[in-house]
Formats: sequence, C-alpha cells, structure tokens
Amino acid sequence: MTDTLHALTSRRSAKFLRGPGPDAQTLRKMFQAAACAPDHGALRPWRYVVIEGPQAIGRLADMAIGAVRASGDPRMTDEKEKAVRQWLAEIPLIVAVAQKIDHGGRIPEQEQLLAAGASVMNLLNAAHLSGFGAFWSTGLGTYVEAVQEALGFDALDHKFLGFLAIGTPAADSGPAKRPEPESFVRVWTGEAVGA
Ligand SMILES: Cc1cc2nc3c(=O)[nH]c(=O)nc-3n(C[C@H](O)[C@H](O)[C@H](O)COP(=O)(O)O)c2cc1C
Repeated sequence: MTDTLHALTSRRSAKFLRGPGPDAQTLRKMFQAAACAPDHGALRPWRYVVIEGPQAIGRLADMAIGAVRASGDPRMTDEKEKAVRQWLAEIPLIVAVAQKIDHGGRIPEQEQLLAAGASVMNLLNAAHLSGFGAFWSTGLGTYVEAVQEALGFDALDHKFLGFLAIGTPAADSGPAKRPEPESFVRVWTGEAVGA
C-alpha cells in the first residue's frame, strides 16, 4: 500500500480532542481540500462556519443547549448538558457545516447533498493528514432550526449537516476495525440480476 493510501485507511474519528488545533494556515489548506470535492454543476454547495477557542465554543454550547431545551427535547437532561459542556470545553475548534441548497435548478438536491458530504470527507481527511483528529457530530441541536439559524444558515436555503470537532486526539485509540471489501462490493458482468 502506498503511503498516501495508508494515510486514508488509517483515518479514524476521535471524539475526545484537546488543543492544539490547526493554525490558520493549516486550516486554510484543509478548506482548500474541502473545495476539491466532486461537484455536479460547480454549485459549490458546501458552507462552513468556524467556531474557534473557548469563548466562541462556550457561546455555542450556551446557544445550542438553550435551543435544544427550548425545543422540549427530553434527552437534554442536566446530566447530558454537563457531559456536552465537558466535551466541548476541551475542543479547540468546531466547524459547523451546511449544504447550500440550489432550489429548482438542473442538479437534483440529492447530488448537492452528496457533494457537500464529499467536501466534509475531504476536510476530515485533510485534518487527519495534517496530524489532527476530528469527529462529525449531529448532536448539539443539529436538527433544531434555531441552532442553524443562529449560525447564519437560514433554513429555507440550507440543510444543516452538523458539527466537526477538530483538534489533537486525547488518546491514541489504535487502528479502527473496518469491513472487508468483499462484504460490500460485488461484480456485475452484464446478466440482469434476477433474470
Ligand atoms: C453525518 C454524520 C453524523 C454523525 N453524528 C454523530 C453523532 O451525533 N454522535 C456520534 O456518536 N457519532 C456520530 N457520527 C459518527 C462519528 O462521526 C464517527 O464516524 C463514528 O464514530 C465512526 O468512526 P470512524 O469515522 O472512525 O469510522 C456521525 C457520522 C456522520 C457521517
């Protein structure tokens, strides 16, 4: 396996992160990688908001926890709030991500969503290749409209896709167990399946 392929296959998510996070130049390069996603119609349907440092991340925690509580979600107990705040307090960088929707154009919205997802994957790989850990979370009120609106993603034109926590992994968790390709790949030779 080439070193580059090994770099890809060695990526694994790390939920618990601490500083340091990427510096401004590295983060910019990571976003350049995010812009290299396949993108039908060149719509650039990915949007990112950087939330960096304890003050901004603390405000994100206040905003998101408040919005989830206001939505009446019974899962946001005092215990859960404490755990969320403790998790966020250690993280140097959060990137909120959304798909910008092109309504009624020639590119189906599903393809726009896939392009945005591919962009996130590039960002996660770029973080890994730059020596950082990352974790994609759709917690923190991702599906509460007030949260995405507070981040500037108006719900009419955006599908909010959650948060990427980026930093230095708090622990070395070793290689992830991955499925063998044979379990999800098959060959089609021209015979109609079921014929
Ligand atoms: C769109 C998306 C949202 C996710 N949201 C959560 C989440 O809210 N909580 C969680 O524990 N894992 C979530 N995950 C899974 C983790 O980010 C991670 O992929 C998983 O722990 C497996 O690790 P791996 O990426 O090394 O395979 C999400 C993954 C994706 C793709």
